[in-house]
Amino acid sequence: MEDNGPLKEALAATSAAIERVLDPFLALPGGPEDRVVEAMRYSVFSGGKRLRPFLVLASAELFGVDRTQALRVAAAIECIHCFSLVHDDLPAMDDDDLRRGQPTVHKAFDEATAILAGDALQSLAFEILSSEETHSDPFVRLTLVNELARASGHHGMVGGQIIDLTADRYDMDENFIHRLQQMKTGALISFSAEAGAIMGHASKAARASIQGYARDLGIAFQIADDLLDVEGEEHEVGKAVGKDADAGKATLVSLMGLERARNQARMLSDQAIEHLAGFDDKASLLRAVAHFAINRRA
Ligand code: IPE
Ligand code: IPE
Ligand code: MG
Ligand code: MG
Ligand code: MG
Repeated sequence: MEDNGPLKEALAATSAAIERVLDPFLALPGGPEDRVVEAMRYSVFSGGKRLRPFLVLASAELFGVDRTQALRVAAAIECIHCFSLVHDDLPAMDDDDLRRGQPTVHKAFDEATAILAGDALQSLAFEILSSEETHSDPFVRLTLVNELARASGHHGMVGGQIIDLTADRYDMDENFIHRLQQMKTGALISFSAEAGAIMGHASKAARASIQGYARDLGIAFQIADDLLDVEGEEHEVGKAVGKDADAGKATLVSLMGLERARNQARMLSDQAIEHLAGFDDKASLLRAVAHFAINRRA
């Protein structure tokens, strides 16, 4: 068994660092609009693994990108992720009361505030990405904005979410589920891992390797999430478990059972690591993440 210590430390450091970046962006304006900012803060400063920000920082390091700039991109992707979680938990979607071990935003506040907090987190991500401090090259900033817009909208996360919610209308097979997972979860994970390559003007070949890594990682990560819904403990995962089957969600677990879903996740994690063969020790944390994605308990 590998030593997960360095990864744990790196995830904790990532979490502290992006919180420092986000804090001033989420300063309370001191007016009647404070309520929505309080809800945004509640969502963002509530823990979480910070996996996507970590991927941004790790890929930025691989391509020699300035850490201060990378941290802003890391903060932006976490805003999009939190927006996706706030909306995913709404009664109209998964109707969940618990997230990251706390009441969901619509429970702690109310539905309208949760919708608006999600909307504003989405806007904030693009405010951060497009600002000059994020990268001196306007073409890089535009590419980041363009790629994140595609990854979070109907080509990516939102598209995956609508398929997730309407899956019972389609015949689901393995390809259908892979596509759903690639869109709803994989697209944002891919953006995160590719961001460093974009910022660091990486070669086409290096970017393709990172793309391959992230694609396999994203699907493995969602299979692990679906496994945790069946095998996890609420007090560990920080959200309700056992809900996917009741809701008739299209998951590999429901299609092929626990054992085969577990094997698929393992195979994808191994495959993700193989894509990193061209990188030296600098990619060791990315390799560790591929193990973590499928062995985590939360
Ligand atoms: C949960 O994501 C939603 C999925 C896309 C599976 P995470 O498991 O990364 O959630 P946090 O950020 O750690 O809470
Ligand atoms: C959500 O997938 C993916 C998102 C885009 C938020 P899930 O609905 O399975 O995520 P959890 O289990 O609620 O975190
Ligand atoms: Mg969902
Ligand atoms: Mg959900
Ligand atoms: Mg889930």
